[in-house]
Amino acid sequence: MPKVLFVPDGTRTGVDAREGDSLMLAATQNGVEGIDAECGGNTSCATCHVWVSDEFAGRLDPPDELEEDLLELAVSERRDGSRLSCQVVVRPELDGLTVEIPAVQS
Ligand code: FES
Repeated sequence: MPKVLFVPDGTRTGVDAREGDSLMLAATQNGVEGIDAECGGNTSCATCHVWVSDEFAGRLDPPDELEEDLLELAVSERRDGSRLSCQVVVRPELDGLTVEIPAVQS
């Protein structure tokens, strides 16, 4: 399973993420705090905002229009690596991905 490193509040938690799951599920199902995911992954809340590391940003499918629109509504600063974690699917090539979680989601 791909290993994903989640970084909420400066702490680091490595998770063995199941392929096909979203980053949001990989975090929430493994006790990583900081991703509220109020809509449960239905692309309607932006409370699952994360920053993916630069080296992996180009390996992800680009955000679609709806994700782009929601990222504009995210409470924390938008950066180049900003993504909605419910829209990023874990794949083998994401092994080693670092995902920073903003301190505030809503
Ligand atoms: Fe609501 Fe991702 S969980 S947009």
